[in-house]
Amino acid sequence: MFEPIQDRIRVESAPKLSDETFIVLRDFIYSKTGIYFPVKKKYLLEGRLLKRLQVLKIGHFEDYVHLLKYSQQKENEFEYLCNMITINETFFFRNEAQIEAFQQKFADEVIKAKKAFNNRTLRIWSAACSSGEEPYTIAILYLEFLKPKYPDLNIEIIGTDINTAVLDMACKAEYNQYSIRSTPKLFLEKYFEQSGGVYKLKQEVKDLVRFEQVNLMDREKMRHMIHFDFIFCANVLIYFDEKAKIQVVGDLFNSLNRGGYLFIGFSEMLHRISTAFKLVSIPKTTAYKKE
Ligand SMILES: C[S@@+](CC[C@H](N)C(=O)[O-])C[C@H]1O[C@@H](n2cnc3c(N)ncnc32)[C@H](O)[C@@H]1O
Repeated sequence: MFEPIQDRIRVESAPKLSDETFIVLRDFIYSKTGIYFPVKKKYLLEGRLLKRLQVLKIGHFEDYVHLLKYSQQKENEFEYLCNMITINETFFFRNEAQIEAFQQKFADEVIKAKKAFNNRTLRIWSAACSSGEEPYTIAILYLEFLKPKYPDLNIEIIGTDINTAVLDMACKAEYNQYSIRSTPKLFLEKYFEQSGGVYKLKQEVKDLVRFEQVNLMDREKMRHMIHFDFIFCANVLIYFDEKAKIQVVGDLFNSLNRGGYLFIGFSEMLHRISTAFKLVSIPKTTAYKKE
């Protein structure tokens, strides 16, 4: 079958990402975000950026790189770039074993240790929180289990991500069936309002989480992210190479209070990345403690 002549013209005139420009772009993205595109993923980057070039009416990837690196709109364009290249897969109650361990073991340990020093504020950071499902899951666990047990406990939950579009979704807190598919029915009824296939989080949950844009590779910003008792940094280190992982995990260590814990994704490990933490293994999950 022949493709229509208009389509052939469109394909032939679409900007092409040359190997050289791909390397320049890839190195730029890597140095700013830690996200590494291997050569085999060139097509992915090209496909995502092509749409942006069309919107900007830019005919060559080389001009786009110039815009990103040197133009007055470079900061604005970098935000667009991050929003296009990140993978934001997430859902409520994603890592059941980790959630159970947090709620049944680690939270008690840390809260009791803090109480001994008259500190009643628990600080939790969901770093790379995407559209908010992870920090809101923690907020629900607090309302359901920790608040009744420790009525004088204050909690601060901060959700951060590099992608501003997903942070806007997090602030809105309206979710679809896909996001809530692992949420226990009881919590769905108690903490969400459902209407026409949309699950809206109730205000009491929303009020517990504050969102902010933080690039985990931005060392200046990371220096201000301190005094956390728990950090959840799940399913993001997989996009970084070893050097970027070492930098980010080192900074997360500094962000934790002594006695605090770092949780990472189910398929992630800190082997060869950091020896600063004590690995705590409990059935079906692990946590990294700052002693
Ligand atoms: C797959 S999602 C994981 C979401 C959630 N933590 C979870 O486990 O369900 C990965 C998130 O990492 C974010 N991300 C990627 N690079 C980042 C960086 N350098 N700094 C902060 N967030 C980043 C992406 O925007 C994306 O929302």
